[in-house]
Parts: sequence; structure tokens; C-alpha cells
Amino acid sequence: MGICWGSPVGNHTPNTTGHLSSVVSQTTSSTVSNISKNSNFSVASGDEAFPNGQILPSPNLREYSLAELKAATKNFRAEAMLGEGGFGKVYKGWLEEKGHGKKGNSMVIAVKKLKSDSLQGIEEWQSEVGFLGRLSHPNLVKLLGYCWEDHELLLTYEFMQKGSLENHLFGRGSAVTPLEWDTRLKIAIGAARGLAFLHTSDKQVIYRDFKASNILLDGSYTPKLSDFGLAKLGPSESKSHLSTRVMGTNGYAAPEYITTGHLYVKSDVYGFGVVLIEMLTGLRALDENRPTGHENLVDWIKPYLSERRKLKNVMDFRLEGKYPSRSAFQVAHLALQCIEQEQKNRPAMNEVVETLEQIEAMNDRLTEPRNRSPRQPLHHSSPLHVKQYGSHANQTSPRLR
Ligand SMILES: Nc1ncnc2c1ncn2[C@@H]1O[C@H](COP(=O)(O)OP(=O)(O)OP(=O)(O)O)[C@@H](O)[C@H]1O
Ligand SMILES: [Mg+2]
Repeated sequence: MGICWGSPVGNHTPNTTGHLSSVVSQTTSSTVSNISKNSNFSVASGDEAFPNGQILPSPNLREYSLAELKAATKNFRAEAMLGEGGFGKVYKGWLEEKGHGKKGNSMVIAVKKLKSDSLQGIEEWQSEVGFLGRLSHPNLVKLLGYCWEDHELLLTYEFMQKGSLENHLFGRGSAVTPLEWDTRLKIAIGAARGLAFLHTSDKQVIYRDFKASNILLDGSYTPKLSDFGLAKLGPSESKSHLSTRVMGTNGYAAPEYITTGHLYVKSDVYGFGVVLIEMLTGLRALDENRPTGHENLVDWIKPYLSERRKLKNVMDFRLEGKYPSRSAFQVAHLALQCIEQEQKNRPAMNEVVETLEQIEAMNDRLTEPRNRSPRQPLHHSSPLHVKQYGSHANQTSPRLR
């Protein structure tokens, strides 16, 4: 197969009412047996008991029937649609909870439905089941189960009430409230913890598609990484990188990966740096509607990140100047380290977590009430924000595939 385990995915073309157990066990046994059995993460169930995450011995997934998911989403009706990505459409659904003595209670879920005739989608579907079915961490979205029936491939997830970070940063309309500075920091820290968890499992997992649309937010803005369709196990100990077909998303993918196809754990760190810059500026990683030379956010904004005075001119106007400039400057400095051209010079994700936690602690001191002073919106008149270049909620960066 393709993406992360031995056998060719093409051999697993779904047939009518297929039973997935063989694929799931094949997927998971080979994928996950490569994730260390001697991992630092204990093996048990229940997120709350394991704030540092755990790798489950086998995927804890339920097989849903198509009829069940049709009923849950009212036959995939348009009003239930939450969004659409490369894999297909995502719907909100309601399932009757069983087995917990809670008869009559319904649980809200998100159902991802693979576009028909997408071979690539099958690979990603299997990868998602193989990785996300076994990885458990407070900052990874919970995969609940799957359905493979009547040529339909579906995945069910815990419902993330606040949608994606992308929508909050770039979305428009009355439903979208701009994220405050403290919330942005909280999201950056949680997302960094999720990525650090993947990178520090004995056999590292490279996520490969870190971007704002893959960071989902629960009701209290806790971020969780979603979409493990492109994830790969890290290189063997004797190697520094994997060689793969270049996939991912333009604007977020690391330069060494784009030019050579060499994928490093630190390639994920580059994507993290790009998202930090999006959170600072409120501008998309890639936007073809911006003037020539400004399309790629990193190329355009990099020179503004190294000086506090310059940084002020590119900060997201939606923050209305309500952020400690020292914290913002420290985040910008960290972002610059993450997007270092040379992958070796980028920090490891657990270092990124530590730095962000320190920034947050200092930020809290700086924003204690006695230090809080009303700030004027700084940037409405900034030449960089005169026009918000095409920041439509439904515009996505092109994928590299
Ligand atoms: N578990 C979930 N809970 C709530 N909303 C979700 C959930 N999963 C996905 N969504 C919504 O559906 C949208 C589409 O998600 P999807 O992962 O299919 O595509 P994407 O990330 O936008 O693009 P790509 O295919 O390039 O990754 C998300 O942006 C989000 O708004
Ligand atoms: Mg996604």
C-alpha cells in the first residue's frame, strides 16, 4: 500500500458490504507493531487517565453499518454538512448511545464520507484507521469507528464543536468570532503537544499534513489534530529521512521535502512554524489572490518577524492590538526557528512545547489586570492590512499530490 504499511492498498478495493476486520487488523498489526512496544506511553484506555497519551495495543474502533450512519446524518443531507476536504464531505450526525445505561441519549459525531472512485482516498482511509485507531492523546481527535459497505468508505469521529482553526482564523460571517491572543497561545501549545507526542513515540510518526484546517477545536478551544491519511512511520534508526512521493499541502510543506522528496520528522516542524505565522498574522499560508510576491506567506512575511517594530505591522488586525507585544515577538522568533531552511536547525517539537509554555507563563504575568492597559487597534491603517486578500472560509491551499 501505499502509505504506511507493506501490502498494496490497491488490492483492497472495497467490495459490496466488505468486512473490514481483515484490513483493519492487517493495517494495524503491521503499522502499529512498528510503533514501539516499549513505548513511553502506557497501554490502557481512557484519555483522562493518560494526559501524555498512549498507544493502544489494538485499535479500539467500532464497525458501523451504513444504515446506522445514514440515519445519524439524516441520509447525509446538505444541512448536516460540516465541511469538505480532499477526502470527501464531513457531516454532523447523532447516534443513539448504547450500552451505557443511557438509553435515549444521543451522541454527536462527525462522519467523513469518502468521495466515490478515489483510490488515493482508500489509502488515506486505511492510514487513518491504522494510525488514529491506535494513537490516543488529548490533542489528537478521537476516531470512533468506520464503515465499509456498498462501495462506501466512511469514518466516524468525536464531534469537534468549534470546527477548524482555519475557519476561526480566516472565516467570515457572524458565526465566526476572532480568536483572542490567549486562545491562540492555548491552541498553539495543544497542537504542539499533539505533534510532539507523535514525534517522540519510539518509532516516530511523521504527520505530514500539519495545517490550520487539520487542527480541530472542541467546545473549550482545546485543539486536536485530525487527518492521519498522510501520516507515515519515521525512518529506521540508521536513516535520517524517508523518501516518498511529495504529498501534503502547498504553503505548509517543508522546502527539503518539496525539492527532494526527503521527509524528516523536522519537516512537520516547518508546517508548525507556518501555522504559527498564520496565527500571528491572520493570513493564509498560500493565497493566490494576493499580489505578486505576497502569495506565499513565509516568503512575504519572514522579514517582518525578526523585529518587534516590524512585527506590529503584520499582526492580525482582528486582535485589535490586544496582545502583549513581547509575547507576540517571542512567538514570531519561535516561528522563525521552525521555518529554518535547513531541517537540522529547526527545534524538536518537545522543545517547541517548552518554549510555548514559557511564553504562556510570561504572557499571563504580562496580562494580569494591573498590567493590562487598553490598547488601540494598531493595524487598521497598516499597508499590509488595507485589503484582506481573499480570506474566504472555503478557500483551501492546493494539495501536493
Ligand atoms: N471531527 C470533526 N468535528 C467537527 N468538524 C469536523 C470534524 N472533522 C472535520 N470537520 C470539518 O470538516 C472540514 C473538512 O475536513 P477535512 O479534513 O475533510 O478537510 P480539510 O482538512 O479542510 O482538507 P484536506 O482534505 O486538505 O485535509 C474541516 O475543516 C472541519 O470544519
Ligand atoms: Mg483535514
